[in-house]
Parts: sequence; C-alpha cells; structure tokens
Amino acid sequence: MSTESSANSLSEFGNPNLEIFYSEDAIRERIREMGRQISADYRGMDLVLVGVLKGSCIFLADLMREIDLPLTIDFMSVSSYKDGTTSSGDVEILKDLSNPIRDKDVLVVEDIVDTGLTLTRLLELLGSRGARSIKLASFLDKPEPRINKDLEIHYVGFTVPNKFVVGYGLDAAGRYRNLPFVGVVKDPSKA
Ligand code: IMP
Ligand code: MG
Repeated sequence: MSTESSANSLSEFGNPNLEIFYSEDAIRERIREMGRQISADYRGMDLVLVGVLKGSCIFLADLMREIDLPLTIDFMSVSSYKDGTTSSGDVEILKDLSNPIRDKDVLVVEDIVDTGLTLTRLLELLGSRGARSIKLASFLDKPEPRINKDLEIHYVGFTVPNKFVVGYGLDAAGRYRNLPFVGVVKDPSKA
C-alpha cells in the first residue's frame, strides 16, 4: 500500500487527536428523552420538522425516529460559517423550504446554537409565513458566545462549554460530521 492510501484509510472514529465529549450511548439516551417530550407536547398538532442543513442531518434523522406522531420534514440551508470556526455574522439563505408552512406547527431542528445569529435570522424569515407555531430544538446549546440573548431554545440536547465541538453532524471545515460521538479536536494544527 502506498503512503498516500494508508494515510487515507486511518480510522477517523479512533482518531487520537479527538477527545470524546458525549458518547454514542449518552447521545442516544438524551435524544430518546427529547423525542418523548416532543411527542407529548405536539400530540394532535400538525408537526413539521425543519432541519437546518447540513449540521442537523444526523440529529434530525435520530430525533424523528423518537417522535411517535404523524409528522413531515423539510430542509433549509443557510450559511453563516464558511470554512472557519468563527461567526461571520452574515446569514445567507442557500436553500429554502420545499413546502409552505402556513397553519403548521414548525419545529426548527438545529445542530448547535452559538451566537444565535443564524437562528435569529431564520426564525424572522419563517415567522412571516403564517405558521401556527414555531419552536426550536437544538442538539447543542453553547450559551457563552450568544449575541441574541432573547433567543429561546425550547428543546436542548446538551449544553456545551465555549469550545469548538465536532461530530454527530458538526464539522470543522467540512470534516468530522460522520463521527457517532461529539468530540473536541485536541490539536487543530494536526490533520
Ligand atoms: P451561530 O449563528 O453563531 O449560532 O452559529 C450557528 C452555526 O455555526 C451552527 O449551526 C454550526 O453550523 C456552526 N457552529 C457553531 N459552533 C460550532 C461548533 O462548536 N462546532 C461546529 N460548528 C459550529
Ligand atoms: Mg448549522
């Protein structure tokens, strides 16, 4: 095997440069609880889960299988972080919803709320479309860097310290979304 192909086949899940923050088991247990709560709260309502791409994809896939109610899903894609790890403050709509949300009970599903700027802009936009209710579920809440202190997150998986976390959908420059756990990159200068 050439040097290049063996480097490409190194295990990502066992990457020694990652420190595990939330294990696969802890995440599964927490999402089960969130699903139970959401199922109780939305009984008899017209629930639409709106996933914010790409980061929420794994959370949405797991959470929806813990919500035992009739529901539909839709997706939006907004960009706030380009390839870096700090907020640009800019939010651009890259992909809008496929279906109207008029009279629907919308639950926006996000990977992490950091400054809150992305969600503030997104909720403003969705708020003008006649939904019956709009709430927010975020897998992670990182309250320390919050700029919009009024942003209410109705369902939170875990509250994290002010560190850049990866895995379970969250990336650093596109990488690590596939990790089944949440971790911190110990030395970002190492690949
Ligand atoms: P906000 O607008 O600052 O709240 O940023 C929200 C978006 O930034 C999230 O949806 C993520 O895509 C990204 N982000 C914020 N913090 C982290 C992190 O610790 N790891 C990975 N992505 C993050
Ligand atoms: Mg995101």
